[in-house]
Amino acid sequence: MASSKKPESPATGLRKGLTNYGDTGFSLFLRKAFIKGAGYTEDALSRPVIGIANTGSSYNPCHGNAPQLIEAVKRGVMLAGGLPVDFPTISVHESFSQPTSMYLRNLMSMDTEEMIRAQPMDAVVLIGGCDKTVPAQLMGAASAGVPAIQLVTGAMLTGSHRGERVGACTDCRRYWGRYRAEEIDAEEITDVNNQLVASVGTCSVMGTASTMACLAEALGIMVFGGASAPAVTADRMRVAEQTGTTAVAMAVNRLTPDKILTGKAFENALRVLLSVGGSTNGIVHLTAMAGRLGIDIDLAGLDRLSRETPVLVDLKPSGQHYMEDFHKAGGMPALLRELRPLLHLDALTVSGRTLGEELDAAPAAFVQDVIRPFDSPIYPVGGLAVLRGNLAPGGAIIKQSAANPKLMEHEGRAVVFEDAEDMANRIDDDALDVTADDVLVLKRIGPTGGPGMPEAGYMPIPLKLARAGVKDMVRISDGRMSGTAAGTIVLHVTPEAAVGGPLAYIQTGDRIRLSVKNREISVLISDEELARRAAAHPIERPTGERGYRKLYMQSVTQADQGVDFDFLRATDTKESVPGKA
Ligand code: FES
Repeated sequence: MASSKKPESPATGLRKGLTNYGDTGFSLFLRKAFIKGAGYTEDALSRPVIGIANTGSSYNPCHGNAPQLIEAVKRGVMLAGGLPVDFPTISVHESFSQPTSMYLRNLMSMDTEEMIRAQPMDAVVLIGGCDKTVPAQLMGAASAGVPAIQLVTGAMLTGSHRGERVGACTDCRRYWGRYRAEEIDAEEITDVNNQLVASVGTCSVMGTASTMACLAEALGIMVFGGASAPAVTADRMRVAEQTGTTAVAMAVNRLTPDKILTGKAFENALRVLLSVGGSTNGIVHLTAMAGRLGIDIDLAGLDRLSRETPVLVDLKPSGQHYMEDFHKAGGMPALLRELRPLLHLDALTVSGRTLGEELDAAPAAFVQDVIRPFDSPIYPVGGLAVLRGNLAPGGAIIKQSAANPKLMEHEGRAVVFEDAEDMANRIDDDALDVTADDVLVLKRIGPTGGPGMPEAGYMPIPLKLARAGVKDMVRISDGRMSGTAAGTIVLHVTPEAAVGGPLAYIQTGDRIRLSVKNREISVLISDEELARRAAAHPIERPTGERGYRKLYMQSVTQADQGVDFDFLRATDTKESVPGKA
């Protein structure tokens, strides 16, 4: 016989997740007593509680507007009748993370997940921006299962150097390359250093931070139109206020991440990644985020999408403009309007409306030159291509939209560096036996080899070639490169050298073939020879002695699994995206 007892509704507000003292009534009594020490009334404490993850840090200028954003989010929460409560988590900045920010991304995701779970909140606003912070927060929130909404800090403004517009970090690399090639002197490189980062906020090009902001909006986990407003603008503060009000409605309607971050949402995000000429890091982060929800990102499917999704956004490093121009051109709503025929319009967003409904209500299109019409792209296919071959049986990535077309079909002699230190010691040596037709190979900068898969895949052109005017060469590694970098660079070779992938056995003098047209990356030696080299030099996975490094080394997965920890991924796979054609 069916029970007539009504199921208990889940605890909300301050009643959520009580600390265990063996007496729940006392636990709530004590919790309220303590928080009343901060001056709250019973009325305030009875409201939906909206947590705000504060990643402000003096080590993180990309999040330098966090105090203003928190104030605006709180205003939005209170306008909608909620109680905002901000709390700190780890903050990770690219240039202040040793050995790499990627090494710390999973730690930040664990911190975010556990603090969302440990503290009472009915919804959470995630304030992130710098490259690894948005994926870390969304990975953690996806696992915590509490309604969550992403707010990014927004892009920095551009600067001006001797009459030329500049911005981090594509121009950082360009000017450093010119300095290495002795085209500019020490005084000029010091001058430009003052201008590259003109304000707080994230890098001003379509690097990883901007890519992840656009992907979050494409996923529906951010307010519509929330990706592009620069950090120091009134628009950014309005997005923050709107994020606060939206979070309260999400709390009331229990709009949890699994309802938004679906297979369809990830496929929409992959389309956007391709069409913005986005960072190669985007694919690693999307894979990790999807993996938390039991969704596999299929690299072969990504490549299929890439053949039918053009690059429409004319931003550096693939194009000309900067994020503030993208915002003025209409931002993500304008791009999604162009991509509309390729998107799953029934995907749900944080507003409770579908992507299609949001697009129907979006402002009308206007003439601009940053977001191209679908039939007039800046690059006819997607920004990324997936390569395979005996050098990368688990796949590798190339950002074809930022590569040199002349080098995309290339065969050359390998010049091998065994690790980053070997490269640093020899690359600028005039005695290095290298020509512009050779293929530079760098090993052991993968997930465990780096460790943390450093963005060292953007190998410098050997000094003697740089001086001779060589700007690009085919470069191959198991590492990553910054989303702000450009060149004919093969990345994420899987499996990595440090765990015994074929890359480990490549020697200087081997012939290597890159064919982006055929999606191939191969070393022209036989399987028997590769096996003979592997047997002669068996490789053991590196380990860490203690602490987080030990956990990292034991648990980190390869690039095709998002470089997440194996124990953080969902235990079962529900679906694989993109679906079959
Ligand atoms: Fe923070 Fe580029 S260093 S976004």
